[in-house]
Amino acid sequence: MSITLKDAHGIAGMRTACRLASELLDYLTPHVKPGVTTNQIDQLAHHYMTQVQHTVPATLGYTPPGYIPYPKSLCTSVNHVVCHGIPNDKALKKGDIVNIDVTVIKDGWHGDTSRMFMVGDVGIAAKRLCALTYDAMWHGIAMVKPGAYLGDVGHAIQRFAEGQGFSIVREFCGHGIGQVFHEEPQVLHYGKPGTLDKLLPGMIFTIEPMINAGRRDVKELGDGWTIVTKDHSLSAQWEHTVLVTETGYEVLTLSSGSPPPPAFVQAQAAGSLPAALAQPASLAQA
Ligand code: MF3
Ligand code: CO
Ligand code: CO
Repeated sequence: MSITLKDAHGIAGMRTACRLASELLDYLTPHVKPGVTTNQIDQLAHHYMTQVQHTVPATLGYTPPGYIPYPKSLCTSVNHVVCHGIPNDKALKKGDIVNIDVTVIKDGWHGDTSRMFMVGDVGIAAKRLCALTYDAMWHGIAMVKPGAYLGDVGHAIQRFAEGQGFSIVREFCGHGIGQVFHEEPQVLHYGKPGTLDKLLPGMIFTIEPMINAGRRDVKELGDGWTIVTKDHSLSAQWEHTVLVTETGYEVLTLSSGSPPPPAFVQAQAAGSLPAALAQPASLAQA
């Protein structure tokens, strides 16, 4: 087995699927507020995917080896839930932070993205964790260009997040994606520069760091899916699907509601930092 390189047809299919995944999060955004249950968000998403977008919810019935079928059309991971939280009938409340992770399939291609949402006013520590995790994801993205290594991506995320006193979950990682939901390579969110796979144009993978306010250790709940921090500290995650281009990267999971890249990425794209090669096409057109 090896890493698939997407041709022009595959890249076009992935651009569409990934934009739709991001647009689904845009659609859900105004609904994420106190009093709404995560099951209601799941139902809204399911309807929007199947009736409006004509996409397929990739998570519904998804059954990797060793797992039971995932029962919902998205994942909602609240507060100390790290990932794979299953929507339920509990209402969100002011001060919660929730990751909503969606994967849509369009014409056989998978688009995978997640964002953090703050429910009403949230505490300063929770806000900081969400913001830092977003920047950590972008530190990884900014390393992507042909000839760079996956270890460079993981190292950039680790150096930044641990440097701020936060910890990185190691049991889950980003992944290659295309006609298959989870394919090679594994994209670790920690590592050493110059190690692991060398990046080539046409590779498409996710970068989706999970970062904890406390210790990095996690455990699985009895439902067979939900992952929580062992110490019950808050956890945050952001996810983009990224294409390796001839000169750098293109973030595929963008839409009008995507938060802007952090200032250090915009500066890099404008050529004021040495790594100007890693220019996102989306910014180049701006
Ligand atoms: N979307 C998740 C990811 O980023 C995977 C969720 S699988 C599920 O890879 F079954 F839990 F939904
Ligand atoms: Co993913
Ligand atoms: Co995802």
